[in-house]
Amino acid sequence: MNNIYIPLKLKTLLLMLLLSTGAFAQSRIRESFNKDWKFFLGDDAAAKSKNFNDQQWRKLTLPHDWSIEGKFDEKNPAKPEGGGLPTGIAWYRKEFNAPANYKQQLVTIEFDGVYKNSEVWVNGQYLGKRPYGYSSFSYEISQFLNPGKNTIAVKVDNSAQPDSRWYSGSGIYRNVWLTTTAKLSVEQWGTFVNASVVMAGNTWSKSDEAMVQVKTNIQNKSGIKQNASIVHTIYDASGKPVEKSQPRAVQVDTSGSKLNASIRFKSPTLWSIENPYQYKVVTQIIQNNKVIDQTETSFGVRFFKFDAQKGFYLNGTPTKILGVCLHHDLGALGAAVNTRAMERQLEILKAMGCNAIRTAHNPPAPEFLDLCDKMGFLVMDEAFDMWKKKKNSKDYHLNFPEWHKRDLEDMLKRDRNHPSIILWSIGNEIREQFDSTGVAITKELVSIVKSLDKTRPVISALTEMVPEKNFIYQANALDIYGLNYNHKFYKEFPSKYPNVKFLATETTSALETRGFYDTADTIRRWPKDGKTKFTEGNKEWSASSYDNVSAYWGSTHEETWKEAKKYDHVSGLFVWTGFDYLGEPLPYPWPARSSYFGIVDLAGFPKDSYYLYQSEWTDKPVLHLFPHWNWETGKKVEVWAYYNNANEVELYLNGKSLGKRNKQGDDLHIQWDVDFEPGTLKAVSRKNGKEVLVRTIKTASAPAKIELIADRKKIKADGKDLSFVTVRILDKDGNVVPNADNLVQFKVEGVGEIAGVDNGFQASLEPFKANYRKAFHGLCLAIIQAQEKTGTIKLTASAAGLTSSSLTINTSKQ
Ligand code: GAL
Repeated sequence: MNNIYIPLKLKTLLLMLLLSTGAFAQSRIRESFNKDWKFFLGDDAAAKSKNFNDQQWRKLTLPHDWSIEGKFDEKNPAKPEGGGLPTGIAWYRKEFNAPANYKQQLVTIEFDGVYKNSEVWVNGQYLGKRPYGYSSFSYEISQFLNPGKNTIAVKVDNSAQPDSRWYSGSGIYRNVWLTTTAKLSVEQWGTFVNASVVMAGNTWSKSDEAMVQVKTNIQNKSGIKQNASIVHTIYDASGKPVEKSQPRAVQVDTSGSKLNASIRFKSPTLWSIENPYQYKVVTQIIQNNKVIDQTETSFGVRFFKFDAQKGFYLNGTPTKILGVCLHHDLGALGAAVNTRAMERQLEILKAMGCNAIRTAHNPPAPEFLDLCDKMGFLVMDEAFDMWKKKKNSKDYHLNFPEWHKRDLEDMLKRDRNHPSIILWSIGNEIREQFDSTGVAITKELVSIVKSLDKTRPVISALTEMVPEKNFIYQANALDIYGLNYNHKFYKEFPSKYPNVKFLATETTSALETRGFYDTADTIRRWPKDGKTKFTEGNKEWSASSYDNVSAYWGSTHEETWKEAKKYDHVSGLFVWTGFDYLGEPLPYPWPARSSYFGIVDLAGFPKDSYYLYQSEWTDKPVLHLFPHWNWETGKKVEVWAYYNNANEVELYLNGKSLGKRNKQGDDLHIQWDVDFEPGTLKAVSRKNGKEVLVRTIKTASAPAKIELIADRKKIKADGKDLSFVTVRILDKDGNVVPNADNLVQFKVEGVGEIAGVDNGFQASLEPFKANYRKAFHGLCLAIIQAQEKTGTIKLTASAAGLTSSSLTINTSKQ
């Protein structure tokens, strides 16, 4: 090559071409570090040393949550509030090969999250600890590596209880990565892309421009000054280059370098809820005509504002934030991160019309935010559930003084490129709001956030409504007032807080059990107040799905949404919660061990309120009729319907009309009181006399057969992908038997396994990791996980006295 003469201009052209196609070998490699770990439940201090014998330890693949594998027990130290599962101390070890040329490179091990108090050793060398189980963190390990075999050991200590107010899970429950880069490279989370719009007029027009500011932190661990150049290229979603920065020459000394670049381009496609369009910026560090480091950062171009009178606007369009709060557990899978399981949750919520998620009350897994970017959800990313003042004796308040700055900074640095994130929350119902200590901490936390991102407002979820008594508010540092509960206060808010932007950060806390119905003359508050022991309830440990029970600080779904929808100044709401979650089984005592607040149950089956939201939050035609139609003859049954896109609904029982109803005033449902007789209940919704939808419910006879319905019959053979299989107990005519509780046995053959089973019952003490599950109100769930081999998975479900059923799932490499 040296002998061939190539004119300089052509050389430059060739170089540009190669750079733009990324054809040079990249030195940055980021690989999954999840496989081939050894696990020991218990403590053994010797396990940190390189030569420790872990032959007897269990082999597993991360992410892993050991709590979810355990037995429910009231006496477990996490208590029913923490999910009633075991916690404790455990060790993980892994042998791995040092990357080739590791001495010339930086090798970094990245943990997305370990719950909690992790300590890490490589070849017996202590690297550090990380108390907060929701923070992502990393260690640079090149200097401790040996040629060939190396060992990493991780101690996880979740023994100090009670810690969390909900189920936390225990272990290396998120992904782990090994990243190798040049010594001169972009730092971890070293890119901040701030994409805004430049408008020619007052409103957005398609021909306007995007302004992309890219801040890059470059590290230089080579020990000597380095010269290089840096270039950024923006690609659209189809992979086509859109615009590129001028290559910029830099001299980076050993303390690193911070660079800014601005790139403008015309007519960007905006990121929105309906069209979550993303670009990416590829950053290249070039030395001696060679790309020595390359990173890719996705971003979206969008603009938004909160207005004290008019609420929230996305891309200039008034948009009510229709959100739910979510904890991080994935039901039967526990806290162990699984992208498909998170995607399924978001799909179910999207179909309900939900457009926003509050990550209660901690930073989520990075993959969760990627999904929100991709699927078009707005996100309120939350840092803490407490500051210095505790909620439980062993919770994060013990670590807050030493770690809050680091934890908050790391959340910001990790998450600030996600277009989905529109709010940073510095805390949920923080005790310091009630005394003057709240002022200084609020100011400090807000200034930490602003030092890293000024593009998004800072909020805190508050409960104290009197301005003078709320010291977090008094700090005068928050951009938006976030109120939890107190829906009757929405109306007064503008007069009590003139010109203050407002968001209902947490609402409702209604209590429901899927498939369970009882009526009441008035709405029940369970528990009644903070003092009285809870003695109401029923021996089924259930709460009615008629939306007539809530916690005393909360309200029913209807009570809340009626207020939230009424006022423009209410920018939106986050309903507590989208899904049931493990822990916080209020109001019931043991054996209740998971929450009753979800719009969707723990297994992912919607409760009836789901359709209330769907009828209000979407335009697709909805007609949801409930309850089931299996009662004692003569019983007075309330029949409810949620509907939209119609001006009347007529109900028929065994062909006889029971009358037409339509919603009056601010009604959100219609209702008939019906004397039960077995047969067929049918509802017909009509718009201007034209039929829109028909729903029928039939009285079911005895359980006769099993039906299996997979959410996906083709999944990836990647060892992670899941098929969620709904099991329905049917009578001989194919009707779901509403109170069936048959014990279903599962058999899996082929290239898959059962990752978990559930039925959504909040007081079931059956294990989640099992090949059996009782049906609950006619349904249960088997979660089937693919192996890495392609082929078929055959699932068979059987139960005594019922015709069994099987289905086949195919797995393939794409
Ligand atoms: C709220 C709290 C949530 C949850 C909820 C239950 O006050 O912020 O974390 O505990 O109550 O109703």
